[in-house]
Amino acid sequence: MWHFRLWDVQDVAVFLSITLYMCHLAKAISVHSPQRSLTRSVQENVFFSVDVSCIGIPTFQWNFMSGAVSRTIGTWRPDGDSNITLDYSSRVQAYSNGSMGLSDLRLQDGGYYVVTVTEPTGSSKDAGFVLKVNEVLYEDLQYLSVSAVVLAGLVALLMLSMWLLDKAYRKIMAWRRRKEMPENDATELQPL
Ligand SMILES: *[C@@H]1O[C@H](CO)[C@@H](O)[C@H](O)[C@H]1NC(C)=O
Ligand SMILES: *[C@@H]1O[C@H](CO)[C@@H](O)[C@H](O)[C@H]1NC(C)=O
Repeated sequence: MWHFRLWDVQDVAVFLSITLYMCHLAKAISVHSPQRSLTRSVQENVFFSVDVSCIGIPTFQWNFMSGAVSRTIGTWRPDGDSNITLDYSSRVQAYSNGSMGLSDLRLQDGGYYVVTVTEPTGSSKDAGFVLKVNEVLYEDLQYLSVSAVVLAGLVALLMLSMWLLDKAYRKIMAWRRRKEMPENDATELQPL
């Protein structure tokens, strides 16, 4: 009898721990992202893609961190209730699946982006992204194109002057030949 009771207690304990483990698994929020490290150029757009699975309707909060700077970009829910910080309101696109689009990138946008997914129960999970924003070297490009134009102009000028010189040389030679011709004719004609 006592033996049976021990078995019961063990069964119950195993059953309870399995149930708790399953509950824990079900409760766990998962945040997946195909790419955690992104590189873009100034004025380009970036899309932070996340795939969230959790219980109930989650709340997404995106934060930005770079050096000593740390600020909240926005908070939203899949139903469309969203609060985007004024600084970002014109550039941020909040997606109902938690993803975020940021357009017209600036150099200062380079840094860490963290999304915090919070379930109605209060449990939450973070996922971080690294964004590198590269400067577009417009000045260098401009300098290069100006140099190319100047070089092309110089080459054209050189070719034109060579062509003119060649033409002038031919003209002078023709004129000299014409000038010599009558003398020759005269000397040749004289004996006749
Ligand atoms: C989230 O939604 C956006 C817009 O509908 C979509 O482009 C993106 O692929 C979605 N992300 C995932 C991980 O489903
Ligand atoms: C947005 O702000 C309003 C007012 O402060 C608040 O009631 C609401 O819950 C906020 N929404 C989100 C998604 O944080």
